[in-house]
Amino acid sequence: MKRTVVMLAAFAAMAFLAAAAQAAVKGEEVFKSRCAMCHSVKGKGGSLGPDLTKISSRLRENDIRMKLENPKKGNPSSMMPSFSTLSKDDMTGLLGYLKNLK
Ligand code: HEC
Repeated sequence: MKRTVVMLAAFAAMAFLAAAAQAAVKGEEVFKSRCAMCHSVKGKGGSLGPDLTKISSRLRENDIRMKLENPKKGNPSSMMPSFSTLSKDDMTGLLGYLKNLK
């Protein structure tokens, strides 16, 4: 009985880690296809927008989300397009990716 519980817990932990890893990969893909032409991370990417390697030390997840949904809110002349049409999965993956960059 106890053993079953331990196995179940281990299995749940593994499934959780696999999902998290998948989300991170997905976020990186979203970044490369939607953001990297303007923003660089770790020296790779465009230079129209600021480097985002250390973005998590400047902006909180919610602020990044707001920036993505409405870039002109904080900066009316912003050249950044809105990403309010990103799917929820893409948005979650992307925010996770940006949050874990250092
Ligand atoms: C067409 C170019 C372009 C694209 C594509 C673009 N951005 Fe931007 N982004 C900018 C510019 C220019 C700024 C700086 C001006 C401003 O704050 O609006 C900026 C600012 C930002 C900021 C605020 C940075 C700070 O230090 O305050 C974040 C966060 C950001 N972008 C994230 C993203 C993400 C994530 C994507 C992809 C989903 C993306 N951007 C796509 C041009 C772009």
